[in-house]
Amino acid sequence: MSVIIVRNPSIDDAEHNALRAAAWNRDCDRIWGPILARSLGWAGALDGDRLIGFVYVAWDGGPHAFLLDPTVHPDFQHQGIGQALVREATAIAQEGGCEWLHVDYDNELDAFYQSCGFRPTLAGLIKLAR
Ligand SMILES: CC(C)(COP(=O)(O)OP(=O)(O)OC[C@H]1O[C@@H](n2cnc3c(N)ncnc32)[C@H](O)[C@@H]1OP(=O)(O)O)[C@@H](O)C(=O)NCCC(=O)NCCS
Repeated sequence: MSVIIVRNPSIDDAEHNALRAAAWNRDCDRIWGPILARSLGWAGALDGDRLIGFVYVAWDGGPHAFLLDPTVHPDFQHQGIGQALVREATAIAQEGGCEWLHVDYDNELDAFYQSCGFRPTLAGLIKLAR
């Protein structure tokens, strides 16, 4: 496999949004610079110059880091790239001095997150928009 994981690569918004649209099956038109500037770090999966995977890590400024939006292009899924992105995100959180890495997800992704080393915990959620 020629795919490599790169920490904090510069990423073109149009390419990133197209990756998300393909993987999440919904349009995305985010401007990523300000989002990533507030994060602890991010990782891209690159097939040559092409962005085919992404994840980023939000932070509370203390011991808690939050894994957000692991994404792998459908053409590249089930090759271990999602796990590799989560490993890199975990290293970002560890090297940032965090004690805990949190994630939340829908039931169908339980096997993926367990395979990445997450264990279940209680969490809470409030729906703010209809
Ligand atoms: C979730 C996602 C990042 C996984 O990426 P991936 O590169 O395919 O994951 P891996 O190859 O590292 O998967 C490792 C194992 O996790 C499990 N797994 C992976 N994707 C899964 C899925 N969609 N549903 C259930 N289990 C899954 C499988 O056991 C898999 O092993 P296998 O391929 O031998 O069956 C990818 O499916 C994706 O981008 N989904 C759309 C975006 C999304 O929902 N992100 C998560 C938001 S919480």
